[in-house]
Amino acid sequence: MNEIQLHDKHFEVFIPSTDILEKVAALAASIEKDYQGKNILFLSILNGAFMFSSDLMKAMRSNVEISFIKVSSYHGTNTSGRVDELIGLNSPIKGRDIIILEDIVDTGITIDKVMTLLKSSQPNSIAVCSLLYKPSAFKGKQKPNYVGFEIPDDFVVGYGLDYDQLGRNLSSIYQLKK
Ligand code: IMP
Repeated sequence: MNEIQLHDKHFEVFIPSTDILEKVAALAASIEKDYQGKNILFLSILNGAFMFSSDLMKAMRSNVEISFIKVSSYHGTNTSGRVDELIGLNSPIKGRDIIILEDIVDTGITIDKVMTLLKSSQPNSIAVCSLLYKPSAFKGKQKPNYVGFEIPDDFVVGYGLDYDQLGRNLSSIYQLKK
């Protein structure tokens, strides 16, 4: 499937699934090298990171833990602005070595929110591993420590990423047809 249609838009292959899996294996190897003897707790950010997280877990040889989280933002009762909270975090964080798993770091806003919320629980360390990173769109504080592919600031879908909820199931990554 070199070309696909999702809703009204046409996409073409940008990163084939074989290249993705090769990169995921390389990311797993470099994490294992850096975290020898440590008990990593991966926190995978839903929905987009589910496929990346699954393949990365299969490529890890050491004993690791994973939990799936979501960032939600609501109107607090005592404040005028919005309040962020992490949903799904049921493992104790204090003293743990955390690696956040993201499908893509774009502006970096999501990662900054997650980092702020996690730091209050006093982990031993926090790192970010993102399959994709758009350096030219990034305005955040925390650059990802592990990156699969640096890509231009163009919209992509597939391998967990969606266009209006479609395309998450695709095993390659696609970009808008030029
Ligand atoms: P950020 O907070 O701007 O870094 O973006 C985080 C979220 O925006 C990602 O986890 C994705 O869900 C979504 N996103 C950003 N860029 C793209 C894209 O090119 N395609 C699909 N989703 C994207």
